[in-house]
Amino acid sequence: MLRGKSFICLLDFSREEIQNFIDVSFMMKNFVKTNNIPKSLQNKRIALIFEKTSTRTRVSMESAINLLGGFPIVLNKGDIQLSRGEPIEDTARVLGRFVHGIGARVLDHNSLIKLRDYSGLPVINLLSNLSHPLQTLADFMTIKEKLGTYDKPIAFIGDGRDNVLLSLMAFVAKMGLELRVGSPKEFRPNEDFWKRIEEEAEESGAIIDFYEDPYEAVRGAYAVYTDVWVSMGEESIAEKKKEILKNYKVTEDLMKYASSHAIFLHCLPAVRGEEVEANVIDGKQSAVWDQAENRLYTAMSVLSLII
Ligand code: CP
Ligand code: NVA
Repeated sequence: MLRGKSFICLLDFSREEIQNFIDVSFMMKNFVKTNNIPKSLQNKRIALIFEKTSTRTRVSMESAINLLGGFPIVLNKGDIQLSRGEPIEDTARVLGRFVHGIGARVLDHNSLIKLRDYSGLPVINLLSNLSHPLQTLADFMTIKEKLGTYDKPIAFIGDGRDNVLLSLMAFVAKMGLELRVGSPKEFRPNEDFWKRIEEEAEESGAIIDFYEDPYEAVRGAYAVYTDVWVSMGEESIAEKKKEILKNYKVTEDLMKYASSHAIFLHCLPAVRGEEVEANVIDGKQSAVWDQAENRLYTAMSVLSLII
């Protein structure tokens, strides 16, 4: 039973529950295309807190809530007392008296746990420093649409501790899939997280391997995924990261080493010329716009299942 549960990390869910989020995402896509949307959030108010900027997540969540008949209340950090030092615990307690669910994009992953524990409401992770599970659902929905299955090896090129990658790892580990990470040795997930991933992979039969050579990583991959080199909040280490990651760019040449049917994925926003060449993201293997569109259906799925 998913109702009332928070959507903070994919590792909190069983394989069947994750499959259910994907199945309902496809149903929601069909409902939207046929203009036959269930109003499962009628009379429900959802607060959406943003401590960092957002285009896709904000618009997909607001649209999803609206389409399901609910009412979104967007709270950018600068507009609420959180920015003047009101504790997150107090913010959570107060929201618990007003709304039926909370979505939050936070600087510190722990804030999501506090929001859940002090509000008593289901909380949806809209991206933290450690994960971006809503993005992952849209990624695998896109892989399934384009490749017919998600049981094909995929590759991620870039920072091995990237929040988007960590959620991809969680999905792959739970679902028994294969992920090849091309990343410099300096950038590996923290020990506790990696231990958890290894345990899950052991149980599901998933394969997650790291390669220092990006060409080795993409060999035989059916999807090549990358994210920005510098995430929100990492501005002070931007130059250092760009230097370390300079050989981990998705180029047309790198794509030639993947399967000839490979698609290119990126959570967006992208920096053309840094992590990806313009002719790849704007080329015919790119699935990034369908991937972005799918954020709407996965948002609708998670909202309708947990709230
Ligand atoms: N992919 C993603 O989360 O985009 P936004 O930062 O624009 O929400
Ligand atoms: N890793 C990026 C993802 C943006 C959707 C960031 O955290 O800024």
